[in-house]
Amino acid sequence: MDVFDAMRTRASLAKLKPDAVPRELIEQLLDVAVWAPNHKMTEPWRFWVWSGASREKLARAFCDNYRRDHPDADQDELDGPGCKTANRVLAAPVTLVVTSDVGRNETETLENLVSASLAIEHILLAAHALGLGAYWRTGEGIYTQPNALLELLQLPQSARVAGFVLLGYPESTERTRRRTPWQEKTQWFD
Ligand SMILES: Cc1cc2nc3c(=O)[nH]c(=O)nc-3n(C[C@H](O)[C@H](O)[C@H](O)COP(=O)(O)O)c2cc1C
Repeated sequence: MDVFDAMRTRASLAKLKPDAVPRELIEQLLDVAVWAPNHKMTEPWRFWVWSGASREKLARAFCDNYRRDHPDADQDELDGPGCKTANRVLAAPVTLVVTSDVGRNETETLENLVSASLAIEHILLAAHALGLGAYWRTGEGIYTQPNALLELLQLPQSARVAGFVLLGYPESTERTRRRTPWQEKTQWFD
């Protein structure tokens, strides 16, 4: 698949089969993720791969974050919307959490997050090329402060979660996607 095709045809695919994804394929994704551009060679990304029973721990962190963000939520809300992200994690064979390191100043921290986000795009494109289904998720829970996910990863609260990628074999690759033509987003200065 050429890079132009990959960029045009990649789609967020949320319906994933429960089948396990071979570790070699995940390693291939990570192998290209680290080739993303990054300013001052900070290589700020960290990858946290969750599969099998370990997903329960990760899922719990998302429920905890919801509880922290919604201190008045009753049990029904906590068990329902409160665990929506957690249920997504449990439904996907693999969740790849991508964090970005805190920088030496605010600008560097911001640019680190941008670089980690580019690493996620590399992962998504590579997953697509390998026939895997994937989608990037953030959800409000990753912005919670203090954040249960960072606590679980034993990272400082100043670290950022760039997002997480839910990964597996897709149930279907059919998906209607839409984009505004680039011409409507572009001005030329000659
Ligand atoms: C920064 C970022 C955060 C995202 N967060 C979520 C999310 O929390 N939940 C979700 O379902 N999709 C999320 N997405 C995926 C977008 O919904 C998806 O890219 C968009 O609908 C366009 O569809 P496509 O990826 O198939 O082109 C996120 C994408 C980005 C770039």
